[in-house]
Amino acid sequence: MLADWLLSRCFNIRDLRRLAKMRLPASLFGYIDGGSDDEYTLCRNTAAFDQYGLMQRALVDVSEIDLSTTVLGCKVDWPVLCAPTGMSRMFHHDGERAVAREAAKSGTFYSLSTLSTTSIEDVGRETDGAKMFQVYVHRDRDLSREFVQRAKTAGFDALCLTVDLPAHGNRERDLRTGMTLPPKLTAKSVLDVLMHPSWVYHSLTTEPIELANVAHRIREGSGEVSNLLQYVSKQFDPTVNWEDAAWIKSLWDGPFVLKGIMSVEDAKRAVEIGASAIVISNHGGRQLDSSPATIEMLPKIVDAVGGQIEIILDSGIRRGTHVLKALALGADACMIGRPYLYGLAAGGQPGVARALQLLRAEIELDMKLMGCRNLSEVTVDCLYRRD
Ligand SMILES: Cc1cc2nc3c(=O)[nH]c(=O)nc-3n(C[C@H](O)[C@H](O)[C@H](O)COP(=O)(O)O)c2cc1C
Repeated sequence: MLADWLLSRCFNIRDLRRLAKMRLPASLFGYIDGGSDDEYTLCRNTAAFDQYGLMQRALVDVSEIDLSTTVLGCKVDWPVLCAPTGMSRMFHHDGERAVAREAAKSGTFYSLSTLSTTSIEDVGRETDGAKMFQVYVHRDRDLSREFVQRAKTAGFDALCLTVDLPAHGNRERDLRTGMTLPPKLTAKSVLDVLMHPSWVYHSLTTEPIELANVAHRIREGSGEVSNLLQYVSKQFDPTVNWEDAAWIKSLWDGPFVLKGIMSVEDAKRAVEIGASAIVISNHGGRQLDSSPATIEMLPKIVDAVGGQIEIILDSGIRRGTHVLKALALGADACMIGRPYLYGLAAGGQPGVARALQLLRAEIELDMKLMGCRNLSEVTVDCLYRRD
């Protein structure tokens, strides 16, 4: 089939990105691909990995490479987790189910976003793999409490509170293409959608897209909100503070993660409230533009809290070498968002599988070339700092 052949011609994440761009209406591709303001942080996230090189060690028996580790109390086969991303069924009708299935198959965590188009319960049923639910502290605290309870009942292993969204970043690509609240239809955007008939066909012939976790709130109908997205955006609460984070943690009995930590001070506060892990993240460059790249903050945060809390890093990872640099600097694991979304948009579930396979194969090969047989051998000695 053409779709399989196209995927087989993708040899890295950049190739999947290119294919995703062909297959999606421009507004949706821009929504995945874009960042805030001038996209400085978006670009810097990936570019900043280049300040490090990786050292190669010769004459090591690398016939067996072990990528496994333990994250949040779960054994994973390799140290890259799938980050929470909203609205996946807009990019391909396979949506969250496809990503959850492929994450489980490849032996890693799947994280389900509050803003998903598949419900907590459906993802809970879909996979026995390690899974984390991502929540926000909403204006309506009962909504957050309800999500935590539903994630518990559905068998999620960890809870992740995203803390870098007191307000939406200024994503100008979305303003231009009409991916706003409410969406703006222009002649150009309608034409763009019509030029992607396969996407249109599947959107019209599969389950309607909805924000599956909150849809019931609208059906119950307070009457004051006209659609789900507006309802959810009204739920973002700029007053959320550390007490609220501690409150959410108190509702959950298992591993608890704070996602969106970028400073040493906040990392220390995360330790104080008893979080199990932090995700050093700038939301993939979608929030504060000019925020440093996550890899630039990692050494300082590791110095301050390494060993006291698990450290996961995301934003900008596109290559196995990026993962290895983060691990060498002291991260316990990494997360990816766009890489698997490009795969999803490029080819549904097989596209996600391709993204995960490519990244994992790169890590394994790079470890061989570095002379590292397992992750405990990936240390700061493997790094070369370019001047
Ligand atoms: C399209 C898209 C949707 C996202 N939605 C969410 C979300 O609902 N919740 C969340 O915590 N992070 C969300 N993120 C951020 C990711 O979890 C992650 O931090 C980011 O994608 C990592 O950067 P990368 O895309 O360069 O790998 C989203 C990112 C993208 C690209």
